[in-house]
Amino acid sequence: MTQSPTDQSSTDQSALSPSPFSAADQRFVAELLGRMTLAEKIGQMTQPEKNSVKPGDVARLGLGSVLSGGGGNPEPNTAQSWRSMVAALIDEAHTSRLQIPLIYGVDAVHGHNNVVGATIFPHNIGLGATHDPDLLRRIGRATALEVAATDVRWAFAPAVSLPQDIRWGRSYEGYSQDHELVSSLASALIEGLRGDAWNSATSVLPSVKHFVADGATDWGSSRRVDRRTLASDRTLSIAQMGQSFVDLLDLGAWQLDQGDASVTEATLRETHLSPYRAAIQAGALNVMVSYSSWLGQKLHGHHHLISEVLKGELGFEGFVVSDWEGVDQLGADYDECVVQSINAGMDMVMVPFDYQRFIASLTRAAQSGRVAQTRIDDAVRRILSVKRALGLFGNPHTDPALLAQVGSDQHRALAREAVSKSLVLLKNDGDVLPLSPTGPALLVAGIDADDLGAQCGGWTVSWMGGRGPVTPGTTILAGLRASLGSDRVVHSPDGHTESRFPVGLVVLAEEPYAEGMGDRSDLGLTPEQMALLERVRANCERLVVLLLCGRPLIVSEQLPQWDALVAAWLPGSEGQGVADVLCGAQPFSGRLSFDWPASHADLPRRPGSRTLFALGDGLVTSVSLTVGSALDGADE
Ligand code: BGC
Ligand code: BGC
Repeated sequence: MTQSPTDQSSTDQSALSPSPFSAADQRFVAELLGRMTLAEKIGQMTQPEKNSVKPGDVARLGLGSVLSGGGGNPEPNTAQSWRSMVAALIDEAHTSRLQIPLIYGVDAVHGHNNVVGATIFPHNIGLGATHDPDLLRRIGRATALEVAATDVRWAFAPAVSLPQDIRWGRSYEGYSQDHELVSSLASALIEGLRGDAWNSATSVLPSVKHFVADGATDWGSSRRVDRRTLASDRTLSIAQMGQSFVDLLDLGAWQLDQGDASVTEATLRETHLSPYRAAIQAGALNVMVSYSSWLGQKLHGHHHLISEVLKGELGFEGFVVSDWEGVDQLGADYDECVVQSINAGMDMVMVPFDYQRFIASLTRAAQSGRVAQTRIDDAVRRILSVKRALGLFGNPHTDPALLAQVGSDQHRALAREAVSKSLVLLKNDGDVLPLSPTGPALLVAGIDADDLGAQCGGWTVSWMGGRGPVTPGTTILAGLRASLGSDRVVHSPDGHTESRFPVGLVVLAEEPYAEGMGDRSDLGLTPEQMALLERVRANCERLVVLLLCGRPLIVSEQLPQWDALVAAWLPGSEGQGVADVLCGAQPFSGRLSFDWPASHADLPRRPGSRTLFALGDGLVTSVSLTVGSALDGADE
């Protein structure tokens, strides 16, 4: 059949690509749907947080899914008790009238990061710097095995955000500001999470998020949090931020996150939408909607973008899930919120607290006709089709032998490789790096050199992350000691020393944060960090600075005093990977996936903004097996 150009542009993509669901599975789902009551259908559309679920309600209400929020862990927090917790809910679902399997969801955004003892991979900004889809595929697979080990088959990842303003607290969740790089890395991660096929025993359903343009919001456009609403905000009180959170508000918290993206439709389509196109092509079957708005309209109620663009034009046949309490934010009247969101095309609602209220509300809407029966059937058909595609109806449990995969040596070796490939060398005067494997001792300064939590960042064991030994791993200091020998590494947490050193390495970290809590107006170094730098500068010939950061920091004024600068991002549990590169066992090969702004005046990035370094920059070294350094590359 020939088509005129006009026909072409209006063609529904779904008509062109085959359904991701087999004909037999579609028949199975249609038959099952025909036997479901309205209550059972609404149950499938409901996703509470595990701490809110009352005993018996999973079976009684036929709940479709349960999630753990960041830090929603069992006690004790071990892989084994995670498995017991999840398996019990799956078993309970199996006693419901129709025995529809429950799917459990977690934020496995850099490894199975809520689980103590899991392998923690670098956050996405670091993986972006590797520019290495094959690595992402392998990380996806390793993550899937660790997630599946705990009987979980759904990870709320990858974020395909394109952070445009690095003051955003979720910048590190994005691989890059560039949509092509994000598309290729996210697609590879999705393939890794899937493995051989969606119905294979260790596939994990990715959630591509946050639809759409979450990374394009304008400073000051977020209204979610202010001092008055703070005390009554249940989500934030769970995070137990207390006074420290109030202080963060003064530094810019919640200025960007969940705000409004005022980009044109052309920009939305050409850039922010394109990773979704790529993800669907890679087989994605779930998309999470963003808290944010586009041109003043919240995505959670956006019929055009969810139903017409995502499900229509892009041909997405999987299901769409809301973000945590995202539906509630549509307005003051909860019933209205539910009607608007479901009618916009929301298929499952991450409630997460008062699911009885959600169920009552959607039941009223369905009975009064404000939400059509066909819309509910469409939502449930999508959810069941994905569960069927994952093979959950045949066997809702994974193999308990997978528990041996959690934090395994093999996965830690992969994370170590990822860390090595993610480091970006931005300055290296006199080839101070890599460090000499022999000779006098190295001064390592700063508490952050020996802090697992600081190098893992947010979304590690708890939502915000935290300092200290939050999970087993290797700190950067421990890695350096292993590489150079303990007697050749002197650690000074506060930078004071009695003697002079040929080389001083200062490790500086951002305090761990997540989401809007990490929105910041000031990306400069703190006064304490500057003082530490000064002390070390005075006691060493050459100064190397290593930043543990969720985004580029503003360092133009300090840089001239430094001989070398390394961006190590948020490398995760395997600090040995940092030492491998600093000491020359692995080359520096990472390249920036973001522009590095020259000053605060250059934020947000816009045409004409000045950069200290640009996307793609990064010095490349070769492996030095002998004494001294071997810089072979120039600025790319
Ligand atoms: C975040 C999502 C996350 C969800 C579940 C939300 O606050 O925006 O990225 O997947 O919570 O924890
Ligand atoms: C986060 C959850 C977290 C919760 C409470 C949400 O916004 O996404 O993962 O557990 O807040 O702290």
